[in-house]
Amino acid sequence: MKVIGIDLGGTNFAVGVVDEQGKILAKEQGKTLVQEGPDAVIKRLNQAVKNVLSNYEVEAIGVGCPGSIDHKLGVVRFSPNFPGWHDFPLAEKLSLETGLKVYVENDANAYALGEHTFGVGKGYDHIVCLTLGTGVGGGVITHGILLRGSSGIGAELGHVTVMPNGPTCGCGAKGCLEAFASATALKRFVQEGYERHKDSLLFHGKKPSEVSPEDIFRCAEQGDEFAKSIISLLTDALAVAIGSFVNIFNPQLVILGGGISNAGEKLLKPVAEKVKDHVLPSMLGTFEIKLSKLGKDAGILGAASIVFERMNKT
Ligand code: BGC
Ligand code: NA
Ligand code: ZN
Repeated sequence: MKVIGIDLGGTNFAVGVVDEQGKILAKEQGKTLVQEGPDAVIKRLNQAVKNVLSNYEVEAIGVGCPGSIDHKLGVVRFSPNFPGWHDFPLAEKLSLETGLKVYVENDANAYALGEHTFGVGKGYDHIVCLTLGTGVGGGVITHGILLRGSSGIGAELGHVTVMPNGPTCGCGAKGCLEAFASATALKRFVQEGYERHKDSLLFHGKKPSEVSPEDIFRCAEQGDEFAKSIISLLTDALAVAIGSFVNIFNPQLVILGGGISNAGEKLLKPVAEKVKDHVLPSMLGTFEIKLSKLGKDAGILGAASIVFERMNKT
């Protein structure tokens, strides 16, 4: 069986034909251009689907999309990355265009399914997954099943409060994990600290707006105090949040994905060490924290695994 996975982001999208082994047989990427409205986005996705299907036949389409997704109806209730998409019937619209059955799921929920089906989560039935990108997404697999809550919008792990009255998050609340552990948050820390830390290594040859998460990790390793302080904010927040997730879900595995996780051991080591201070003593030694290995196509694979999961149920 082959399916299509669509990784639908606010800026870019990627469409891939995926087989049951998680091999991507054809792929197309494009700009989402949200500002042109939902119908234009649907048309663009349909064109990409047509292109990748020129040599293949598929069973159905899975779409991973940030925000509050009603997975039963395939409706985007609300998405910070898609202004104006309130109660947008994504599955129905895309299905009408493509003639294929369409399943929609929160992007990080899809990511967790992808890790469970094809990634480091294979063989584990209790997984907590965090995607550290523009936002912070969460996905939980418990007893081998994706935890969705009553309407599919649960497992928003990025919006747990790690600091009362902390920095404002994209969701409007204060002190969410996302306000510390997303690329957006790191950018904000750099901008806000610029005046006080002009001599930081971060700004040798770079404007604040040009500093990347990789730059922050690299400069921190070289001993730069400002970079080190940002990495501390990031790893402290992650450790506090992961500690709580471990206490709640008792997972075998915590998986870190998304752009920030490209920092690898520089991220993993401090987080794994600090988490020990935030879990019950009885939890120590019951879980591991690992980096995702699905790479650039994680979004497509996650979206594809939505279809495999739903079709196995029926
Ligand atoms: C959104 C989530 C999404 C995550 C990753 C967050 O800002 O609230 O729904 O899963 O970003 O894209
Ligand atoms: Na989620
Ligand atoms: Zn939030």
